[in-house]
Amino acid sequence: MQTPHLAIIHTRPAFIPRHGYGRWVLDLRDLAVPVLAAPMAGGPTTPELVSAVSEAGAAGFLAAGYKAADAVAADLAAVRAVTAAAFGVNLFVVAPYEADPAALEAYRRSLLPEALRLDVGLGDPRWDDDDYDAKIELVLDLRPDVASFTFGCPQPEVLRHLRERGVLSMVTVTSVTEGRVAVARGAASLCVQGPEAGGHRGTWDLEETPDTTPLLDLLRSVAAVVDVPVVAGGGLADAADVASVLARGAVAAQVGTAYLACDEAGTNPVHRAALADPAFAETTLTRAYTGRWARGLANRFTAEHRDAPAGYPQLHHLTAPLRRAAVLAGDGHIAHLWAGVAHAHTRPGRAADLTRALAP
Ligand SMILES: Cc1cc2nc3c(=O)[nH]c(=O)nc-3n(C[C@H](O)[C@H](O)[C@H](O)COP(=O)(O)O)c2cc1C
Repeated sequence: MQTPHLAIIHTRPAFIPRHGYGRWVLDLRDLAVPVLAAPMAGGPTTPELVSAVSEAGAAGFLAAGYKAADAVAADLAAVRAVTAAAFGVNLFVVAPYEADPAALEAYRRSLLPEALRLDVGLGDPRWDDDDYDAKIELVLDLRPDVASFTFGCPQPEVLRHLRERGVLSMVTVTSVTEGRVAVARGAASLCVQGPEAGGHRGTWDLEETPDTTPLLDLLRSVAAVVDVPVVAGGGLADAADVASVLARGAVAAQVGTAYLACDEAGTNPVHRAALADPAFAETTLTRAYTGRWARGLANRFTAEHRDAPAGYPQLHHLTAPLRRAAVLAGDGHIAHLWAGVAHAHTRPGRAADLTRALAP
């Protein structure tokens, strides 16, 4: 155990004392393994996955997206019950959005044959903010080491409150402009997400076509104009990939898809089977499932619903019963199968072993 004195002697500029809380803001450069296991909402992230990754010397991330604040608090407690190591919590920042009613209705009608085939109704295409305020209260109260945000950037006040409570804020950015704005608002670190990434693009403007600059180029451009620690993710699958982002200015790599087949992940069986099936050879960018661009394994649904309009979370709610039924029916051609471009490297195994193997 370091004494408080030694902690002060070793303090780097990025270390800020947690006034009144007796802890120090995490410096990502101090991770034994410079890796963040990406938060993966919708099932794959479990407290077991997060604690296994953090215990192995990297940082696990709980995914608060789609969950009620109470459930997130229970996940946080479950991680803390097994490890004192650093971990983060990830929140969605969902901007108000009114989907075009005609486009929404046309899309709903195009899904009816799918619903009929699975014998389910479609969901209510409503907007909601994913319980944002309650989750902000929660992270301010329970103070995980890191609070990360995707789909948008919190207001400066929220970022300031996090800093005051000794929580490292991290904002996902997909362009140089988003990076500049996030830092100007007070983000203490950035997560640069490249177009190779699995799952949703974090692009703030729902209607914008996401930036296609490859991760390594985007990282270099963002790192050149900001003065906060930068993490980089998208298509990273092994220690050489991790080393490649560190060499371009990142303090750590963010890895998602590679963890999907881990024993501790809650990835559903249809998703796991597709990741192991060479017939699902390609990934594609689609908004057919949620009305927000996301990368997943190409299947019949992504091929037949290229016309999906923008509308998050309206389309997410509309297709949710369909996707649940598809998983129950074992149908990988309707279920969503989020995965990044390096999905072919995903292997079953222990999260701790994968984490150690990612160390450059
Ligand atoms: C199944 C899945 C779910 C994801 N869910 C989230 C999420 O809840 N929040 C978030 O910020 N990013 C999410 N992402 C994106 C990751 O944060 C990250 O950008 C991505 O996994 C990195 O690319 P890779 O999958 O190629 O490693 C998700 C990715 C996947 C594959």
